[in-house]
Amino acid sequence: MRKKAFITGVTGQDGALLAEFLLGKGYEVHGLRLYAATDDTVRIKDLIKNDGFHLHNGDMTDGGVLWRLLSEISPDEIYNLAAQSHVKVSFDVPEATADINALGTLRLLEALRGLKLDARFYQASSSEMFGNVPAPQNENTPFAPCSPYGAAKLYAYWVVRNYRDAYGLHTSNGILFNHESPVRGEEFVTRKIANSVAAIEAGKQDSFLIGNLDARRDWGHARDYVEGMWMMLQQDVPGDYVLATGKARSVREFVTTAFALTGVNIVWSGKGENEKGVDARTGRALVSVDPALYRPTELHALIGDAAHAYEKIGWRPRTAFRDLVREMVNTERDLMKAGQDDGLLYAAE
Ligand code: GDD
Repeated sequence: MRKKAFITGVTGQDGALLAEFLLGKGYEVHGLRLYAATDDTVRIKDLIKNDGFHLHNGDMTDGGVLWRLLSEISPDEIYNLAAQSHVKVSFDVPEATADINALGTLRLLEALRGLKLDARFYQASSSEMFGNVPAPQNENTPFAPCSPYGAAKLYAYWVVRNYRDAYGLHTSNGILFNHESPVRGEEFVTRKIANSVAAIEAGKQDSFLIGNLDARRDWGHARDYVEGMWMMLQQDVPGDYVLATGKARSVREFVTTAFALTGVNIVWSGKGENEKGVDARTGRALVSVDPALYRPTELHALIGDAAHAYEKIGWRPRTAFRDLVREMVNTERDLMKAGQDDGLLYAAE
């Protein structure tokens, strides 16, 4: 029997990569897509042609739709990846963020419980839930979120655990540290940097603006992380797992590495809002700080300890930091050459 998976947020980076991974394993994949007036299916345009892939309109704020779809599809595995996933935007739309990320998860769990489905449930929990507690962070680290996004994700995390304990459902949390890829949204810092560096190399942009250069993140490759999601649901006993590389780099280091891949040696000068990334050969300032890109509260250092996932489910991050940056920058260079350089969609974030 072909296994069936239901993925919320299938049009996002992780949804698209997970759908591709599961189709490769022979699954029938059902994806929930938030209706959008503009076409948001760019990441799944090839998957849509696969006859094992089915796209459904829906919304995490509409419990009736979630109930109906789960009842019609009767999936073996549910991956809840839908979210308002931008931390800075969550300060602008905190209530909507809570409705989608926190109550949306509750609605899906209630449908699972009410329909008495024998499905396994994965929740996209986030390292953002840790806030500024000292690194490294693991499953036993206390949570202290510093954003409406992190607080909403923490509610979802606890309700997933509660439905496991109260009703015996097979629900698991993947506490994922930052994971990137060439299909990362342009509103996130890694894709923004890769895109800008390639545009500067192609002579289509002179420079770009950046926010906090000192923030440190544990950046892995999203392809490795979606495999970890699947591995969690293959366990007979549900659980909570951190997925991370265990190494952190600053935003500044990401910028320097990305430029180096195009042959540009960046030297940093100035401090705080006056800091600039300068091309050592030409003396041109290619990167400047814009305080408008700072967040009301910032997480300074997220570094994950994934020992539990290593030991219990045998998951390993496979992609080294430099290889991740290289893949992202080279994809942007190819897009530039192909003339598909629409620029940044959300330059202000
Ligand atoms: N987006 C963005 N844009 N971030 C910037 C910029 C900029 O121009 N300049 C500096 N940063 C800094 C942010 O302040 C943050 O410290 C860091 O770069 C990473 O920002 P994002 O790429 O937006 O990711 P995030 O860490 O806030 O959140 C991501 O990772 C979480 C897991 O820890 C998202 O994918 C979340 O959905 C996810 O849960």
